Amino acid sequence: MSNRVRLLRAAVVVFLASSGLITLAISQESFPDAPGRDTLILACTQCHSLGKMAVAKLTAEDWQFIVYDMISRGAPVHQEDIADLTKYLQDNFAIDNR
Ligand code: HEC
Repeated sequence: MSNRVRLLRAAVVVFLASSGLITLAISQESFPDAPGRDTLILACTQCHSLGKMAVAKLTAEDWQFIVYDMISRGAPVHQEDIADLTKYLQDNFAIDNR
């Protein structure tokens, strides 16, 4: 194997390792395990990162609106998951609940 290939492989490994660590940090610290979390991670990461939740300055009422706003933009949230997702966002990210 040439040095170049070896170097490239090392770079890929480092990249994968660091992106894995970032995912882990996000999922464990800012996104505690609770009903609604899986829906959030599956449905709300298709157009932007989860960082949007952490930086958004939204009240509980705003979050209720945002969920429907995002669904109307195409977020694939099942009808029966809306309540859990909304509560999850309100509990963890509403500025009036922080
Ligand atoms: C189909 C693409 C798409 C999906 C899926 C999606 N979003 Fe968004 N989201 C957007 C776009 C586009 C914007 C930027 C809107 C703007 O700036 O006006 C946005 C912005 C936001 C913001 C910032 C709004 C603000 O006022 O600060 C939040 C919070 C957000 N999304 C949450 C969610 C949540 C929660 C989900 C899952 C239910 C989700 N998004 C899924 C497209 C999407």
